[in-house]
Amino acid sequence: MATENIRKYKFGNPLNTGAVVMEIAESTGNPEGFLANPKSKELQADFSKDAFVYGLGETIRGINKRGWLYRSNNADEPHHEEGKNSLYASHNFFIVDDTETCTGYFIDHPGFVEFDIGYTDKDLFTIRFNDFDFYLYVISGKEPKEIVKNFRELVGKSYIPPVWAFGYGQSRWGYKTADDIRTVRDRYKELGIPLDMIYMDIDYMQDYKDFTVNPERFPDFENFVKEMKKDGIRLIPIIDAGVKIQDGYDVYEEGVKEGFFCKKEDGKELVAAVWPGKVHFPDFLNPKAREWFGDKYKVLTDAGIEGFWNDMNEPAIFYTEEHLKEVFDNIHELENKELDISGFFEFTGLINSIANNPEDYRRFFHDFDGVKVRHDKVHNLYGFYMTRAAGEAFERIAPNKKILMFSRASYVGMHRYGGVWTGDNMSWWSHLLLNIKQMPSLNMAGFIYIGADTGGFGGNCTEDLMMRWLEFSIFTPLFRNHSALGTREQELYQFKDSESFKNIVELRYALIPYIYREFTKAVENNTMYFRPLYFDYRSDKRCREIEDQLLVGDSLMIAPVYEQNRTGRYVYLPEDMKMLRMRSYKDYDEEVLSEGDHYVKAELNETLIFIRQGQKLPLAKPARCVDELDFDDLSYIS
Ligand code: GLC
Repeated sequence: MATENIRKYKFGNPLNTGAVVMEIAESTGNPEGFLANPKSKELQADFSKDAFVYGLGETIRGINKRGWLYRSNNADEPHHEEGKNSLYASHNFFIVDDTETCTGYFIDHPGFVEFDIGYTDKDLFTIRFNDFDFYLYVISGKEPKEIVKNFRELVGKSYIPPVWAFGYGQSRWGYKTADDIRTVRDRYKELGIPLDMIYMDIDYMQDYKDFTVNPERFPDFENFVKEMKKDGIRLIPIIDAGVKIQDGYDVYEEGVKEGFFCKKEDGKELVAAVWPGKVHFPDFLNPKAREWFGDKYKVLTDAGIEGFWNDMNEPAIFYTEEHLKEVFDNIHELENKELDISGFFEFTGLINSIANNPEDYRRFFHDFDGVKVRHDKVHNLYGFYMTRAAGEAFERIAPNKKILMFSRASYVGMHRYGGVWTGDNMSWWSHLLLNIKQMPSLNMAGFIYIGADTGGFGGNCTEDLMMRWLEFSIFTPLFRNHSALGTREQELYQFKDSESFKNIVELRYALIPYIYREFTKAVENNTMYFRPLYFDYRSDKRCREIEDQLLVGDSLMIAPVYEQNRTGRYVYLPEDMKMLRMRSYKDYDEEVLSEGDHYVKAELNETLIFIRQGQKLPLAKPARCVDELDFDDLSYIS
């Protein structure tokens, strides 16, 4: 049992976040490793120069977290640059691996936490809090994999999506009508590229109102859902956190009547603006509100919908009425003055302060299981509890069915209800590499159904970037091409070499029996589907610094090409492996490579796969969609 390997320490008056599912008796005294200083609201440890830090889930930078400042503060952050400190999620689990010893830590705290991992002082690891109220779990194990397993037992079994959710999905913010979606289907069909899902971004809704479908642009929606399904395609609508304020809109009116929206100190609902214009935020932390909102998904499941993505649930705030007024007042004041340079910067500062303003997150409250809590103190739970609302509702609405669900914002615990995508990345080569590095730490935190916007969300994707990105994304359980309004269109039929795109997506379908088996094993055994090399090859110190190759399941290692204009890359092999250079599931070169360093050729259309010793790779015959894949008719490469 994992409980012997976990010690729980209580500091202050922590809230129950719902992350942990196991009862653990509290230990007293100072926790191993860190020294607690309630006065300065810090935990601090000496940080040996050999220590590596793994974890923290979805973040920027590398697999080894040493040398930067990471903040748990779920943020609507479309600029995933290395200078940032927070992304959309807070996953406060990490392992300090000192080669001789390694220890895991989980800080269960729903508010702001700062991890200063040798940033201020290279010899110190400091964790800072705004509120020194948290549970600290210290998790032991002889190696990282064992610590991860013990941690994952503590936080409960990860979400498993339906099998078809391992197919390929096409998405774009900008499909406005049923005919736009039919075009996507038809173009994929013409080229014979498999496709399982087409995602519906906010434009399917009536005025961006959750749980509505625009009847002019999507007439007879139920039949449209059926028509697509006949072609093997599921429609996956987006659900946003904010509920539009509009008289006559049932979700808005019921929410107000029942008191299910987040309120300010004065008892009035907070008014924020997001895509729909002015919205209220459902209080997902209130179990009754959660049940009410969750039941709304039935509007769409009744129409035949079997999957959703939850968005804008940090929650993103474009502006609040209060702060916007403050900004305008200040600007008017500046307007009447001579604008010197400091006045000019004050002016631009005011404009930049409008969206996602920290002050705004202090303006509203939750009824958290009967306790009134200011939002910022539980900020990182909001996306988790929105997704929990959906997950719990699916158990009522469709108890015998698996529904696809993934979210943008998350906290540990949400992994029991859904997966995540890594938010608004860019069509940059560096973000392909970031995608590779983000995967193992998300797995550590329990998120196994994961993936990024393949090809990049913002910016303009080039054909070669799309191809290289696909060659990596065919291994991510969530495999979706998504892009932003106004960017270059990046459906695979927009590019010239459709034959190669088809081959890569077909290779994914051939790999699905392997991917699904390894995914399920990771969920059932609390292991990691994606692992850094060093997690398996503990005696090979070279592996510690390899962050651009990953182990995928038990049998494979991958080494994606992630730079432009490259026809190969260096690969390090910790043992002899068979290398496959795959142009398609049936057209490939095989070569046994010995342990050590190699320069390996890989033309733009070639995916590199390495089979580990004693292992074999099963391959299915691709089909147009997962429902038509034959999981029993497999060939093997060993
Ligand atoms: C957010 C989401 C993105 C979506 C857009 C419009 O930026 O992260 O995926 O396309 O909103 O809904």
